[in-house]
Amino acid sequence: MAKQVDFAELKLSEKIIGAGSGGAVRKATFQDQEIAVKIFDFLEKTVKKNAEREITHLSEIDHEHVIRVIGRASDGKKDYLLMEYLEEGSLHNYLYGDDKWEYTVEQAVRWALQCAKALAYLHSLDRPIVHRDIKPQNMLLHNQHEDLKICDFGLATDMTINKTDMQGTLRYMAPEAIKHLKYTAKCDVYSFGIMLWELMTRQLPYSHLENPNSQYAILKAISSVSLVVRPTICHSVRMNVEISIPKS
Ligand SMILES: Nc1ncnc2c1ncn2[C@@H]1O[C@H](COP(=O)(O)OP(=O)(O)OP(=O)(O)O)[C@@H](O)[C@H]1O
Ligand SMILES: [Mg+2]
Repeated sequence: MAKQVDFAELKLSEKIIGAGSGGAVRKATFQDQEIAVKIFDFLEKTVKKNAEREITHLSEIDHEHVIRVIGRASDGKKDYLLMEYLEEGSLHNYLYGDDKWEYTVEQAVRWALQCAKALAYLHSLDRPIVHRDIKPQNMLLHNQHEDLKICDFGLATDMTINKTDMQGTLRYMAPEAIKHLKYTAKCDVYSFGIMLWELMTRQLPYSHLENPNSQYAILKAISSVSLVVRPTICHSVRMNVEISIPKS
């Protein structure tokens, strides 16, 4: 359970560091420590549901590659999730931001390995947690961009029953989830695979389409692939990747 902290102890800054469907993320100070705070406005029912999901699941997790929760607070109208602050931004921003940083294959494999370790941990808990929104926007960087932690557990769920609801970001979503078929924790593995491809090519998935930002065009592209035909990794690529795995 996340520790309930007194809202009065929280000093929110004006600086918004992220804004998505879940709510704004702001910098703040708590007990002289710089932190990040995700703010959930309870006017919308789905926001409340996702907030509870995120706070519950994140509080149960203790892993070096998952963002650490400090506590939760409420002012009666909004709920606040207090997290450690990772100042180097998201992996998405690193890949496509103005700075155009360079990175090596070894670095890409290091990020991928860290994400895979966190997913293996989440999926092997007594009540396995499925993230359902694995993508570079939800990977936060630290340690001079060398290491990552997974954030954004707004869609996370435990996998005690088979799911058929479509949740996630289309570009990264497993076909079985899109088609409302039964899916398992493997949907995270599919999204991880798309992200791995993205890390190696530094291209947004489906950017080759004529309308790369059209949800309809992406859906059509995904639907044209048979469910049983998944791309295979050729042996030589697998060998190269294995050789590149850092020894940490
Ligand atoms: N602990 C943190 N430290 C630093 N930056 C953070 C932190 N948490 C979130 N952010 C920034 O805020 C952005 C949005 O956060 P998050 O992904 O949790 O919420 P969301 O995007 O609203 O949810 P959704 O992806 O469902 O729209 C992240 O991509 C990241 O840039
Ligand atoms: Mg997000």
